[in-house]
Amino acid sequence: MSGSKRRSRNAAQLDRRYVWHPFTQMQDWVREKPIVIAKGQGALLYDSEGREYLDANASIWTNLHGHAHPVIDRAIRNQLAAVSHTSALGLANVPASHLAAELISLTQLRKKTASPQPRLKKIFYSDDGSTAMEVALKLHFEHQRRSRPEIAPRFLSLENSYHGDTVGAMSLGHSPLFHQAFKSIRFRVDRVMAPYCYRCPYNRARPDRTDARLTRRCQWECVGLIEKSLGQARKKNRPYTAFVTEPIVQGAAGMIVHPEGWLARTAALVRGHGLQLIADEVMTGFGRTGPPIACHQEGVQPDFLALAKGLTGGYLPMAATLTTQAVFDSFLGPYEDFRTFFHGHSFTANQLGSAAALASLELLRRPAATARRRRLESWFDQALQTLWRLPQIGDVRRAGLVAGVELVKNWRTREPFPLSEQAGIRVCRELARRGVLTRPIGNVIVLMPIYCLTRPQLNTIVGRLAEAVETVLESDVRQ
Ligand SMILES: Cc1ncc(COP(=O)(O)O)c(C=O)c1O
Repeated sequence: MSGSKRRSRNAAQLDRRYVWHPFTQMQDWVREKPIVIAKGQGALLYDSEGREYLDANASIWTNLHGHAHPVIDRAIRNQLAAVSHTSALGLANVPASHLAAELISLTQLRKKTASPQPRLKKIFYSDDGSTAMEVALKLHFEHQRRSRPEIAPRFLSLENSYHGDTVGAMSLGHSPLFHQAFKSIRFRVDRVMAPYCYRCPYNRARPDRTDARLTRRCQWECVGLIEKSLGQARKKNRPYTAFVTEPIVQGAAGMIVHPEGWLARTAALVRGHGLQLIADEVMTGFGRTGPPIACHQEGVQPDFLALAKGLTGGYLPMAATLTTQAVFDSFLGPYEDFRTFFHGHSFTANQLGSAAALASLELLRRPAATARRRRLESWFDQALQTLWRLPQIGDVRRAGLVAGVELVKNWRTREPFPLSEQAGIRVCRELARRGVLTRPIGNVIVLMPIYCLTRPQLNTIVGRLAEAVETVLESDVRQ
């Protein structure tokens, strides 16, 4: 056995001995031999034993164009030959400056809208989705205190939302499973009902779809509840100052696809009440849901836009928070006034990450790539339709190239599997045995095709998911 093969094999042992994995019950982890990924090519991953897998969740929602893409690889290699990293504290660098200009251009809303939208003009770089959201919340906090000191900053966000794991980002979220343990160290952020149509307490028809069997049409009760929260806060003289949302799809909540029109209505509503809009596009950015920026789908330009995951094509950790001139200006002043934004990270504006991001944006913008994503969406849609026949599947929801497949105990009553039964985990384990890798969010199986996936590969992913569901949950459901 060659030295490198031996190293790959030893990795499983070393991992179980030393590595603590995120969002993983380690008691279960150490009982099984882990899959050790040793290589990637396009939408395929290979483990240290040489087994091939389809990457069905884009390596936790990060990868856009495929693994080992020659254009991104070359850009990183070229940058490596120049310099890998230099500090952004006191220094500029070439790729990060060009990337800033590209991102500002990409994130401009070009669609005409009824009301004037703010323009994103400045970028603050950081390392990952959580830090991008920390930056957004801190910028809003300070901007609010400076521009309207009479009104204390106050955030409102959605039920089940997830914006990252650092304490500030965690405070903005409302995931009962992830955040409960840290309740006492999170700062207070109020929550309001999310548009989770499949489990809507008001009715069972999506407002953007007419279902012949369901007569009651949606009255946008969820938007009404936001309006009510805004009104009540105002009456108590403690108005909200920022609304935080993941546009179009709430990822970690279970790939909850918001109904068409929800974002535009909500944005208009919160702006009407004088709030700033913080859009967390850590997952939805860069074409996942359709356009490069998901907010643009509904003619919305936020006051803060957080980007990460796909920013570098999924190659390197890097993030950006974009904001307006007005927010930027509130931090200006003579040095001795100390209005500086006192925030930064060692790897802010990393040169390798910036080079990868520039290459990824170039790929994303190619007209052929856009047309291909459209075709992939339509193949994806067709493939997903085949899942409805399974009684173990209650909902199949998709926006662009993101889908959530919700497993249920009883599709008639929508009774969920208790989390303790690990339905999602068991299905994904079986799926891995069949050569497809993804991770569940509770009872929801996430499918997120990498943009280079072929139609046969896409059909294989969906077909194997159906097989895995039938194998694992055959006796668990009420028919
Ligand atoms: C919408 C959203 N925001 C923030 C984050 C946190 O990003 P990171 O894991 O890069 O810190 C995630 C991660 O899944 C996310 O989906």
